[in-house]
Amino acid sequence: MLRIFILSVLALIPVVQAQCGSGTPDARVTGSGSTFTATRGSTNVYTGSDYRAAIQAALDSISSGQRVSVIASGSIGANTITISSGKIFEGCGTINVGNKSGRGAIESTNTQNVQIPYLTMTGNPYFGLRFSGTSGLNLGTITMNLSGGLGIRFDRDAAANSNVKMGTITVTGAGSHAVETWNINGLEIGSVIARNVGESGLLLQKTTNANVGLVDGNNVGAGTGYATFRMANNNGQLSNGAYTTNVRVNKVVSRGGGRGVFCVSQSGGVEITTVDLANNGNNAILIENCYGVNIRGGTVNGGGEVRISARSEFPNTRDISITLRVDGTTVRESPCGDNTTWNLSGNGGRTIC
Ligand SMILES: *[C@@H]1O[C@H](CO)[C@@H](O)[C@H](O)[C@H]1NC(C)=O
Ligand SMILES: *[C@@H]1O[C@H](CO)[C@@H](O)[C@H](O)[C@H]1NC(C)=O
Ligand SMILES: *[C@@H]1O[C@H](CO)[C@@H](O)[C@H](O)[C@H]1NC(C)=O
Ligand SMILES: *[C@@H]1O[C@H](CO)[C@@H](O)[C@H](O)[C@H]1NC(C)=O
Repeated sequence: MLRIFILSVLALIPVVQAQCGSGTPDARVTGSGSTFTATRGSTNVYTGSDYRAAIQAALDSISSGQRVSVIASGSIGANTITISSGKIFEGCGTINVGNKSGRGAIESTNTQNVQIPYLTMTGNPYFGLRFSGTSGLNLGTITMNLSGGLGIRFDRDAAANSNVKMGTITVTGAGSHAVETWNINGLEIGSVIARNVGESGLLLQKTTNANVGLVDGNNVGAGTGYATFRMANNNGQLSNGAYTTNVRVNKVVSRGGGRGVFCVSQSGGVEITTVDLANNGNNAILIENCYGVNIRGGTVNGGGEVRISARSEFPNTRDISITLRVDGTTVRESPCGDNTTWNLSGNGGRTIC
């Protein structure tokens, strides 16, 4: 009885393969250069020179719960691949993409339970991956070596998302953000690793009930006010208006670039277990008009100052608790926050309330 129950539960959970393309994918895209073939089982669904068309034909040939493995590498140009509900998309080759204005190279909108267990992308997309209106979206190991553009984007002015998972997201060379979310309730991220990225590593906006393992940025947002980890636009504010802790981040590591951690524009409800920030070109940490921010430990070494601030356009910063070792740079609270708790060690000037 128990065994039958377990087997029937297992049958409902699509299996993520241990390796991209392994097992028996329901459809595959193979080929190279100017000849690509898409097959579903033993049925040919595309042969020709258009890599994008081969991938889309494979995706369109499978049904919900089935898997496409793109074995071939190639270029889709300035175009968009669309993934519909329940489909599993594995990019095993390297998918080179172009810039389709305002669009994702790969998109899934208003869908349930789409999975992208593996993806390697190169090129300069407007958005590498673009989502809205998803539930149960599951991204696994995603590697983007870009020459511009934005890595992963959840839209601002579109339907909200729920229960989004990401495994290990590695983005190099984006001109904008590595990962930018809007409108997600329920987000689990293993790690976001951002290297030589123009704006933010992980930018959360209007995102609640989030658990993030690691945000690790090197040379992220250099010369800008962006940060390795940025929260903005009411991030972490629950639907009842409260800032009860609901965004949890285990660790933020940042080297060089712009800011390390930046909370702004009525965001908060966040607890960061530890930070390791060094030589950030702008503030190592800036908390500006945020509510309920708890940094429980870690170190800042050199770089820009640690700052609690506020602008007059929003209510003052409040309920901030920071335990931190800060060496080689200053700490400043101005204007004074309401209900700030500091527990500082290390050297350097302190101007706190
Ligand atoms: C992506 O970049 C990493 C690090 O620079 C490199 O090891 C890897 O080979 C690159 N992959 C592709 C597909 O360009
Ligand atoms: C994409 O093209 C638009 C204009 O259509 C441009 O504004 C944008 O900077 C380009 N992005 C990239 C990554 O090349
Ligand atoms: C002060 O802030 C802490 C979080 O740092 C919070 O737990 C506490 O409830 C706040 N106290 C008041 C009086 O709001
Ligand atoms: C202050 O931080 C130290 C670590 O530097 C820690 O051992 C101590 O428990 C903290 N105190 C409070 C009141 O949180």
